[in-house]
Amino acid sequence: MGADIDPAAPILIFDSGVGGLTVLEATRRLLPDAPIIYAADNAGLPYGAKTEAQVAARVAGLLGRMTERFRPRLVCIACNTASTIALGMVREVLEVPIVGTVPAIKPAAAITRSGVIGLLGTEATIRQGYVDRLEVEFASDKTLLRHAAPELVEAAEARLRGEDVDPRVFARAAAGLREQLGGEDIDTVVLACTHFPLLADDLAVAFGPGVRLVDGAEGIARRIAHLTGGQGFARNAPDLALFTRDDARVEALAPALAALGLTRSETL
Ligand code: DGL
Repeated sequence: MGADIDPAAPILIFDSGVGGLTVLEATRRLLPDAPIIYAADNAGLPYGAKTEAQVAARVAGLLGRMTERFRPRLVCIACNTASTIALGMVREVLEVPIVGTVPAIKPAAAITRSGVIGLLGTEATIRQGYVDRLEVEFASDKTLLRHAAPELVEAAEARLRGEDVDPRVFARAAAGLREQLGGEDIDTVVLACTHFPLLADDLAVAFGPGVRLVDGAEGIARRIAHLTGGQGFARNAPDLALFTRDDARVEALAPALAALGLTRSETL
């Protein structure tokens, strides 16, 4: 298996912004030699405030263009919002293996002791039928409380640009779950947006001791490693960060991107 894959063919990791870097980091740990393109639809950020149709059209259109141009061996949609809305549709139209990112409800259900799980995501993610189905399949005997925390997306973006973040956003996100009926018993919180693990330390403080934060990055990286098992890798050039709009905010991200080996950037 994998003998016909060009060793220089990249793995393409896609998100609306910097959130997918949490998946890139985990993937890099497992596959240090894999060439990776990190693609951020910064012109479309935030996806969480968009309609299902808007997200689906952007994701399908951009991934179509990107796969045609860069011929990746695998695409990872490192965005819960895009995956819960468009994964099935994108899989139907693109002829490349696609790994999605869906809320880590299954592992959270396996570790909760109180039986009350919190879920933080974008506005669009928390209303998806995909999340309802994960809840029915893996947490039907638990209580799952959901809260949309779009401020955390902007906070993660700002943090990676080296800007200060108002610490009240973390307390507000925690309160959004804690103040729901049964919320005081939450012992496990699903970070159902790839931006949020970038803020895990602050969120852990906001929720207090005894609450475990769960995200999908390690599991997604393992899935990518599994699907590319047996393939050769040749990382001949510095990895590329691809954006959909060139602006000063992209420049400000350069140090954070370089720390992950993304020392080149381009606009699609
Ligand atoms: N990182 C994205 C997610 O995992 C969403 C951020 C946004 O564009 O709203 O849901």
